[in-house]
Amino acid sequence: MSEPASNHVLYVEGGRPLHGRIGISGSKNASLAIMAGSILTEEPVVLRNVPGIADTALMREILEVLGSTAEDSGSGGLRLQAKSISSTVPASLARRMRASIVLLGALLARTGEAKLPRPGGDEIGARRVEQHVRGLREMGAKIVEGPDDFLAQTPGRLRGARIVLDLPTVTGTENLVMAATLAEGRTEIFNAAREPHVQDLCRFLQSMGAQIYGAGTDVIVVEGVDRLSGTEHRVIPDYLEAGTFAIAVAATGGDVVLEEAPHADLTQVLLKLEHAGATVEVLADAIRVSREPDRALDAVDMVTWVHPGFPTDLQAQYMALMTQARGETVIWEPLFENRFQQVPELTRMGAQIEVRGRDVLVSGPAALYANAVTVPDIRSGAALVIAALVAHGETELRGAWHIDRGYQDLGGKLSQLGAAVVRSGADGTRSEPRPPLGARE
Ligand code: EPU
Repeated sequence: MSEPASNHVLYVEGGRPLHGRIGISGSKNASLAIMAGSILTEEPVVLRNVPGIADTALMREILEVLGSTAEDSGSGGLRLQAKSISSTVPASLARRMRASIVLLGALLARTGEAKLPRPGGDEIGARRVEQHVRGLREMGAKIVEGPDDFLAQTPGRLRGARIVLDLPTVTGTENLVMAATLAEGRTEIFNAAREPHVQDLCRFLQSMGAQIYGAGTDVIVVEGVDRLSGTEHRVIPDYLEAGTFAIAVAATGGDVVLEEAPHADLTQVLLKLEHAGATVEVLADAIRVSREPDRALDAVDMVTWVHPGFPTDLQAQYMALMTQARGETVIWEPLFENRFQQVPELTRMGAQIEVRGRDVLVSGPAALYANAVTVPDIRSGAALVIAALVAHGETELRGAWHIDRGYQDLGGKLSQLGAAVVRSGADGTRSEPRPPLGARE
């Protein structure tokens, strides 16, 4: 992995269709869970295709503080080894990333104890973790919840349990699966999350010797084993990065091949784009997305849903696209209560969007104009970049570090496709696009 980008302002000049081909990087959310899972064994774990983004760099730092060794092993490669591991996750680091919560199940299984701060991350909703806690308690863990942290302990091994999740939480499922791999007996998780990154975590754990059945369905069964071994694993390509680029091309017009884009994970997204007026072609190991710039976009309503539904992590980007569509689009976000943070900034660029509780009404097409906007979270940042790509003039995106948390060199990849994107540092110096961070394999 490479160092994450440190520049903080992105300037995007709109009005250029995107053309060419780019490679899709490894999945952020799969990498974070899998890196946490590496502590389930004392043996080395070699990962490939880990994206060079700020969140994976932060997870690596947390693992190193806990006692893991971490070495780069070539492009996107990372070798982790947790010969011995501490059970206290440093608050200063963990609070910077909500995904640090995925260490809870792995630490508890490995050391019998876990002390973690309450997770931070995007302010996109209440983001409770009571499902994680209840499931682990059902497996025998004693968990004391303080105002700022959790202390989880288990006197002996965790034991298998039959757990019903009230909602299919992604990191909750990941925590319970990791805890169950080394538990005594069988764990059944009902209403489990099915997202591609949950499936990839399960494949990774299976390659370490875990007995996991049903990944990708809503019932996951884990037969606990005594130990897990080291392994090598290639992280899946990021369907959310691929979806973001597909939406960007639909918005700007043009013709782009997204190499390694996992089309099967994006079925509903790609269908929406086709209904809106883009052309999508599934190639052998790629997706091609195109739209003639003079082909108008049509409004197509959308509801976010758990996988295989339309991902909440692409909702903001889709909203930016719909500002360019003819008619009124209703976008409903039932999964998170505060995931319309892009709306005020899009509105400042000229978008016509009315927030009505958990849904919004987008009226289009609206002419967008460059403005100085502030990025509130990773996916809203991607949405503002898409809006900037279609806007008249040069948009200034402040707080672009949010984008660096989840996208490997978004600016560089867009420049490769013909967009005009430059970065500047905290001192205001503008720089040419950086070369791709931590190149893919
Ligand atoms: N929820 C509860 N109680 C729980 C757990 C979740 O009420 O115990 C609620 C949450 O408050 C939220 C909903 O359930 O309203 C869904 O939350 P979930 O737990 O599934 O989300 P997560 O595991 O915290 C992961 C991704 C997010 C992605 C969501 C939904 C990682 C590291 N994060 O978060 O990714 O939005 O699943 O798919 O995998 C992103 O990549 O930008 C991002 C935010």
